[in-house]
Amino acid sequence: MSFEIKSSYPSKKKSLIRKNILDWYDINGRSDLPWKGQDIYKIWISEVMLQQTQVQSVIPYYKMFIDRYPNLESLFKASLNDVMKIWSGLGFYRRAENIYKTSIIIQEEFDGEFPKNYNDILSLPGIGRTTASAITTFSGNGRYSILDGNVKRFLSRFLSAEVDNSELNSLWELSQYLLSDTRPSDFIQAYMDIGSLVCKKSKPLCYECPVNKQCNSYPYQPSNISSKPRKIKIKEKNIWSLVVINNKGQFYLEKISYDNLWKGLYSSPVFHNQSDLMGWTESHKIKAYMESNTWKFTHKLSHIKFTFNIILCNIKYHKKVSLSDDNWYNLSDIDFGIPKYQDKIFNQYKSIYDYN
Ligand code: ADE
Repeated sequence: MSFEIKSSYPSKKKSLIRKNILDWYDINGRSDLPWKGQDIYKIWISEVMLQQTQVQSVIPYYKMFIDRYPNLESLFKASLNDVMKIWSGLGFYRRAENIYKTSIIIQEEFDGEFPKNYNDILSLPGIGRTTASAITTFSGNGRYSILDGNVKRFLSRFLSAEVDNSELNSLWELSQYLLSDTRPSDFIQAYMDIGSLVCKKSKPLCYECPVNKQCNSYPYQPSNISSKPRKIKIKEKNIWSLVVINNKGQFYLEKISYDNLWKGLYSSPVFHNQSDLMGWTESHKIKAYMESNTWKFTHKLSHIKFTFNIILCNIKYHKKVSLSDDNWYNLSDIDFGIPKYQDKIFNQYKSIYDYN
């Protein structure tokens, strides 16, 4: 522990901060979240889902996932496609792949039991320091603190320090130093809850904060410390997609293998520009089946707005085309994950062509 932290927060002050945080948590904390409990498997699934997604969006996916895969044994038996399917709509699909990979690693290297040791947990795919700490501490297997985005904001305001990435160590130190000895699990949940519910990015509720008397920024005034709030720049991007359908009403779908937002899901072929799309229709000998009508729709993610340009290709005679027989699917038996945009393609197709 560095001298500065120890001398700024001597034992009495540290105890008061801990007490204030836990008293606040007992009244205001989110103790009713569906993943609360000590089941390490459920904690793992919830913490991975919460890595890049807000609590309210995670809850229905978490419930669905646990209904379907209530424990590691059930997950061991799943295929990657099954896991991707249940994840579809939650985004950041790499997380689902990592969960699947982890289930194999646990089978092969940990005798089918989720590891309980912090360093073993940290070694699993897609698990960083905060997630490993949350899993270890929430499951009652250690006393490790966290530093996610919300806690980073809370503690850097608390210290009144502008902390850039090279100085994160001092925040980690403070986070661990203040952590309760007796109730570490409630304490890290309290950190998260204060960070997201009280010490909010804009307009923090300083008067409700349990440690405002100890906070070096109180009352926090955004203009004092940071410059203007950063505006997220929304990028715009055009995508071209070829919706290929055959004379049996089946769609041609490919597994997305290149590294993009939707890796591992199934989709109509997509391209960055129209000429790539045309090249593809030529090389697969389906150019003659392209229809003249096209349609467009937009698909927004938090940081990017896609405009999808859809071109239809209706294959009447299958013989000469060069498309694999394995990639044709009836809409009624799609049992793998598809991106949200592909849902929009199917829905628009159905409404335009009266397909059912
Ligand atoms: N973000 C990451 N883990 C969380 C948790 N357990 N509760 C609320 N938000 C979180």
